Amino acid sequence: MSSTAPPNASTIGIFDSGVGGLSVLAALHRMGPRHPLHYVADSGHAPYGDRDPAHVIERSLRVADHLRHHGATMLVVACNTATAWAIDTLRQRHPDLLLVGVEPGVKPAAARSRSGTIAVMATPSTLSSPRFAQLVQRHAPDCHVLPLPCPGLAAAIEAGPAAHDEVERLLDQHMAPLTGSDADVVVLGCTHYPFVRDAIARRLSPAVELLDTADAVARQAMRLMGESTSTGTPEDSWPAVRLQSTGDTEVLRRLARAGLGLDQTVERITL
Ligand code: DGL
Repeated sequence: MSSTAPPNASTIGIFDSGVGGLSVLAALHRMGPRHPLHYVADSGHAPYGDRDPAHVIERSLRVADHLRHHGATMLVVACNTATAWAIDTLRQRHPDLLLVGVEPGVKPAAARSRSGTIAVMATPSTLSSPRFAQLVQRHAPDCHVLPLPCPGLAAAIEAGPAAHDEVERLLDQHMAPLTGSDADVVVLGCTHYPFVRDAIARRLSPAVELLDTADAVARQAMRLMGESTSTGTPEDSWPAVRLQSTGDTEVLRRLARAGLGLDQTVERITL
């Protein structure tokens, strides 16, 4: 891989509690930004979604400091849980940083639903946040919104192929409330879930639409950075990508290869 990034270019920092944000990184990468991308998976302190919000805020601030220190002028919070609980604090602490967060796609889901019922799969922490309640109130006041908290699912996805059976069991359990519901759009409200999109789709009728916001978030980040979006980035003009993890580096390396075609080392860091 070669880089077209100018020397000392400001970077786009992206983080998640783990590998989930790679779904956003992949979308951004496909749009061909000129700025280098710096991804941190906070796997050593995951999952965020089954934990106390104070933990999520504390970790988000720490990762943001790290990314800024390494030249980030934009921060993409590629985690619904961290966006729900920490984005306001991040904005206060870093008023000069361009910030983009990820939120469950309630607005597009409400617009696309014909039945008037949508379901949102997300971490318990995202679904219990005041920000999620506001999102529903603002964008889906006339919809029936079925929350599907999925405790343990992000952690099982994070564990990789060894946890395949556990992922299947958790999906059976957490998607059970969909039986008999007329939800025609299911929102993937956690950036880890697109990695098991096929397993989720298998449990739904083909008429049900699955929706995630990775592309929309990547487009917004590109716009704010003043980047023009290209479709189909030629391989030789890809930007530099730096991958770091505070935990297991192997799952990040494997998914970066599968999702982005990047065959590179993942640095293990302590934050
Ligand atoms: N990927 C994160 C999200 O979008 C959370 C996963 C976790 O629980 O750590 O919410």
